[in-house]
Amino acid sequence: MVPSGSAQIVDLRSDTVTKPTPEMRRAMAEAEVGDDVFAEDPTVARLEALAAERLGKEAGLFVTSGTQGNQVSLMAHTQRGDEIILDENSHIFNYEVAGLAILSAVQARTLRSRHGILDPAEVRDAIRQPNIHYPKDTLICVENTHNRGGGTVYPLATLKEIRRIATEHGLAVHLDGARLWNACVATGIPAKEVAAQADSVTFCLSKGLGAPVGSVVTGSRDFIGRARRARKMLGGGMRQAGIIAAAGIVALESMVDRLREDHENARTLAEGLAKLPGITIDLGLVQTNIVIFEVQVGAPAFLAAIEEKGVLALPVGPDRVRMITHHDVSRSDVERGLDVIRNVLQHSNGEQAAG
Ligand SMILES: Cc1ncc(COP(=O)(O)O)c(C=O)c1O
Repeated sequence: MVPSGSAQIVDLRSDTVTKPTPEMRRAMAEAEVGDDVFAEDPTVARLEALAAERLGKEAGLFVTSGTQGNQVSLMAHTQRGDEIILDENSHIFNYEVAGLAILSAVQARTLRSRHGILDPAEVRDAIRQPNIHYPKDTLICVENTHNRGGGTVYPLATLKEIRRIATEHGLAVHLDGARLWNACVATGIPAKEVAAQADSVTFCLSKGLGAPVGSVVTGSRDFIGRARRARKMLGGGMRQAGIIAAAGIVALESMVDRLREDHENARTLAEGLAKLPGITIDLGLVQTNIVIFEVQVGAPAFLAAIEEKGVLALPVGPDRVRMITHHDVSRSDVERGLDVIRNVLQHSNGEQAAG
């Protein structure tokens, strides 16, 4: 349990821990609301239109979470018994409680990726020809930035090639853009250009953008109509949801450009870690706000030692640790975190030398 509001804690577990800004809280208090299941909430409608406009899509749908956004997208794109092609390290395959199998009743064809980036030639080879024995491939899922890949950004040319292959074979593309805005800020490529490479795009308001709740799914009007029915089935039809959508509007309008600071902080953190003994890190993979590295002492011992000194992070393997920078972590927090890690490692190296 993390003591809330403690100035001592440097919380690098995830960008989901960000608290709403004062501007968000004001917007929430003043939000105009209605019953959104009756399509009467003007603030939700405004957020959905804004998201669709920013991504160059016809329509948007406010959903409770990134997971719900991905799952309603899968439900809207596929039929029972279809096959979907996705990376074996994707969030949809690993962290959504087998929702693809349960909710959409589809089969997952997982491919190896390079730090989350699929090889278009392997995607093409994985698409099955029509045959009575085979499931029908209907969807390719990509993730940008890639969480388990370490916040890596999809090269636009790769996305374009995957899109071209999908179109040639009659498949749709879904982009899990939980951290899409990080990718756009890191590359300077407009969100519309990235989103144009997919039929549907989800992004999270509640991660680096700092809103308390919610994600948005975008796509064609038809697709969003089907996703809306799927959302209702999952119990995601919310009533006066304008209260939370209001914070989402502030997030989208005022929190995108500042992601640059999180990326700079991640870089400072990564470069500091690279200098420490007992840590192995590939600086080339630190492209946005995620920093993944290996610790010689093992993740559990390392995490317990830094937690004792008020620095929090998460394990992503027996020796692998993930840290994420965000709005509620300042440059001086990063420096404090590095000091703590330096001390902890010096201590553990000293013990190893002595023992
Ligand atoms: C790439 C990716 N997709 C989807 C999600 C799911 O978002 P949520 O936690 O809002 O369900 C996450 C969350 O970390 C994520 O990293």
